[in-house]
Amino acid sequence: MKAALRDRYGPPDVVELRDVDVPVPSEDQVLVRVRAASVNRADLDGLTPRPSFVRLFMGLRAPRNHSIGVDAAGVVESVGPGVTQLKPGDEVFGDMFIGGQGSFAEYVCAPERAFQPMPPGMTFEEAATLPHSAILALQGLRRRNGRTIKPGDKVLIDGASGNVGPFAVQIAKSMGAEVTGVSSTDKMDMVRSLGADHVIDYTKVDYTKSGERYDWIVDTDSHHSIFRVRRALRPNGVYVTLGGESGPIFRGLVVGPLASLFSDKWTGLLIWWKPMHRPDVETLKELIAAGKVKPVIDRRYPLSQVVEALRHVDEGRASGKIVITMEEPAG
Ligand SMILES: NC(=O)c1ccc[n+]([C@@H]2O[C@H](COP(=O)([O-])OP(=O)(O)OC[C@H]3O[C@@H](n4cnc5c(N)ncnc54)[C@H](OP(=O)(O)O)[C@@H]3O)[C@@H](O)[C@H]2O)c1
Repeated sequence: MKAALRDRYGPPDVVELRDVDVPVPSEDQVLVRVRAASVNRADLDGLTPRPSFVRLFMGLRAPRNHSIGVDAAGVVESVGPGVTQLKPGDEVFGDMFIGGQGSFAEYVCAPERAFQPMPPGMTFEEAATLPHSAILALQGLRRRNGRTIKPGDKVLIDGASGNVGPFAVQIAKSMGAEVTGVSSTDKMDMVRSLGADHVIDYTKVDYTKSGERYDWIVDTDSHHSIFRVRRALRPNGVYVTLGGESGPIFRGLVVGPLASLFSDKWTGLLIWWKPMHRPDVETLKELIAAGKVKPVIDRRYPLSQVVEALRHVDEGRASGKIVITMEEPAG
């Protein structure tokens, strides 16, 4: 089979398409014939890697794991003897962050819990956009203690034009919030089309200095200091950041929660992420069935152009999701 692999850290050009053996599922694993995958910032973060300290876990000089790609949708080909829920022929989607990545390939093998049945009525391409980003969006709108947004809350999504942001905008709207999306100039119309009540162009306006106050801020890629975002929060407000460079990650882990000890506002990094968490997948399916969440697909690239697909996202050109497509199975 064809699989996208990399042997060293670096930009998307380090990725190569190679011929490798189709994996064989062991005890609790499921082998899926991938029909579509999608690109996430996490794939690019893993290539570089970003934040740089994750080299401590991924391999200091070179990555120990050569596979890439977390989001997949496809058809179960075979299952290990310990698999209880899925069977060959099932149409599934999943987050390969559970089980070693590798969705940019014709087949991927991962533990059964990485996959769940596809939302009814969705194409493989649509379903492939969901696992990583839509689940992060749901969990960014909820704290570890279960607190979430209420109807009428003012919610700001910083990074509304990327992978997670468009899902976060739609989910917050479905919960009755007044939603402000932040993006670059060219992508403001896309953010408006998702239902955002207000859109801020970050190249012209710094929302932390605008005087507006929010009940909840989800930041997909930190660009402001914790103390500045605290000023943009209403009393009892919450700021959840998902990622960024080493500095913002450290501040989100340590400084934000420490500052929250002396205040009614909570600021910090999302550390309660549970990929493919079953209750969240069910919520997502309900939102999709109700027409409240729709994936935004910017472009499709065949697997043979995986490097171009990664570059498209890396260079900030994507407006919504970039999908990687596989050839139709013969016969
Ligand atoms: N915490 C966790 O447990 C966890 C788990 C998994 C993944 N993650 C992380 O979550 C993040 C998800 O991000 P994503 O995939 O949604 O990222 P993305 O698609 O790259 O989106 C980034 C967003 O940031 C905006 N942006 C870029 N430069 C900006 C600036 N200077 N000021 C303000 N906004 C700017 C972009 O806007 P334009 O495109 O309009 O320029 C875009 O909307 C990744 O970093 C991933 O590693 C976290």
